[in-house]
Amino acid sequence: MPACITTPIYYVNDRPHIGHAYTTTVCDVWARAMRLRGEDVFFLTGTDEHGVKVEKSAAAKGVTPQALADENAAEFQRVLKVFGLSNDDFIRTTEPRHEKQVQAFVKRLLESGSVYLGTFEGWYDEGQEEYYTETKAKELDYKSPISGRPLARATEQNYYFRLSAFQQRLEQFFASNPGFVQPTARQNEVLGRLREGLQDVPITRTNFTWGIPFPGDEKHVIYVWIDALFNYVTALGYGDRDGAFTGDLFARRGKYWPAQYHVIGKEILWFHAVIWPALLMALELPMPRRIHAHSFWIADGQKMSKSMGNFVDLPTIEGYFAKYGLDAWRWYMATQGPLQASDADFRAQHFHDTYTSELVNVVGNCPSRVTAMVGKYFEGKMPADAQQGGEWPARCSAAADAWAKAIDELDLVAAAQAPMGLLREVDAFINRTEPFKVAKDPSRAAELASILAQCAETVRIAGVMLEPFLPAKMAELRTALSGEADAALPASQRLQWGRLAPGTPLAKCALFPRV
Ligand code: MSP
Repeated sequence: MPACITTPIYYVNDRPHIGHAYTTTVCDVWARAMRLRGEDVFFLTGTDEHGVKVEKSAAAKGVTPQALADENAAEFQRVLKVFGLSNDDFIRTTEPRHEKQVQAFVKRLLESGSVYLGTFEGWYDEGQEEYYTETKAKELDYKSPISGRPLARATEQNYYFRLSAFQQRLEQFFASNPGFVQPTARQNEVLGRLREGLQDVPITRTNFTWGIPFPGDEKHVIYVWIDALFNYVTALGYGDRDGAFTGDLFARRGKYWPAQYHVIGKEILWFHAVIWPALLMALELPMPRRIHAHSFWIADGQKMSKSMGNFVDLPTIEGYFAKYGLDAWRWYMATQGPLQASDADFRAQHFHDTYTSELVNVVGNCPSRVTAMVGKYFEGKMPADAQQGGEWPARCSAAADAWAKAIDELDLVAAAQAPMGLLREVDAFINRTEPFKVAKDPSRAAELASILAQCAETVRIAGVMLEPFLPAKMAELRTALSGEADAALPASQRLQWGRLAPGTPLAKCALFPRV
């Protein structure tokens, strides 16, 4: 089944930092794992370029909003390449393919009665571009929960999306799709807020102009969040047939909708878990399968914020690349990150310790030991195993099942644990069977061959499962094990026991140097 995974689209008034790198890396690991499994994957990311924040940042710099957007979107695209991220498309909300389609959706919402003209009185959080009702603003002490700055009083005539009309359908939807929002703690928050009752939301603005004009009433621009959410379907070509909502709604790539995963940070969950599904209901489109809202990286125990200047920014990240390598960065992001309900603390020492204890001591050391012994005792050729793997084929197949299940659940920690567990078992097996002693007794040659053949084959299989996390290093391992041609095959074949035929050259490899 075709699968689609998306990141949020990032605001162009900011420079890329660890937060953007994190979400995109999580999606990249998943996309690579799915491709490895032979699935047809579409991995989408991009930039969110409209709205008052971009307009203001541009004005402060004395450039047009479009110029600012162009510059920063190019920077985001450059960074994706530096990080080796494998996205299939990059959507920018100022592209005609997006703008034209957003107008078509909004027109459709207007025609179907889901959008109407009304008057708003309440409170506005400028930094977040979010409106609050009186009750909510009071609860927040009239201050932005994000920036702490005072909320502004706002009265505006706006077009509204009739969100309240979807209360029941959303409740039913959540009841019949219990795992829709992950992790569960986040889903409970959404359900709690849903129970408080939904109010209609303004979806246009008149106090600035940097946005997509509202079709038929162009003094209004479409609210940046409504504009942005639609990226997930405009990138797939939805509504591309000149706004004709009949027949095959997707001009291209329609097979990728609904998305398997929208991966986001927890601060934008409401938009994705409630407003987006309601918009899709109003347009009679299928729901995404899952919203995964991860938590936040914090730095040395403190919230990262622009005002504190403690964001792990691009130059800092590039420092880690230089010292430990790109794959080590990916490993830390994927296995130590805030994927579930708690925040994760980014600490240089913890990064270093994880690198040493997992990548140097296990992922690097185990293949190095095995290939070195094959070099020493079998002239660098895969020995023949008279025991046909012994207990190892079953162990490997259990690990492969656990890996695949974890990938389905976007549980990257468990997905990394499966091959790591195998490598640790191989290490323990070597310590227990002591092939370096067995080698001293010529009458035990067959036993030695079996031990090392079993280790080498298990290392190869673990390497396959580690590829989505460590693509460059595992390509090195693959080459060392004479497996270049394997790269094109699906995991179902590559994870089978016994691909390393006796006599296959196995070169010694050193993957992760001690730092
Ligand atoms: N443009 C909106 C999203 C629109 S999606 C239809 C937006 N952009 S953003 O540039 O602010 O990016 C927010 C995302 O960056 C978060 O959802 C999260 O994915 C990531 N992160 C930002 N700071 C983060 C951390 N400190 N830690 C982890 N990820 C965080 O919101």
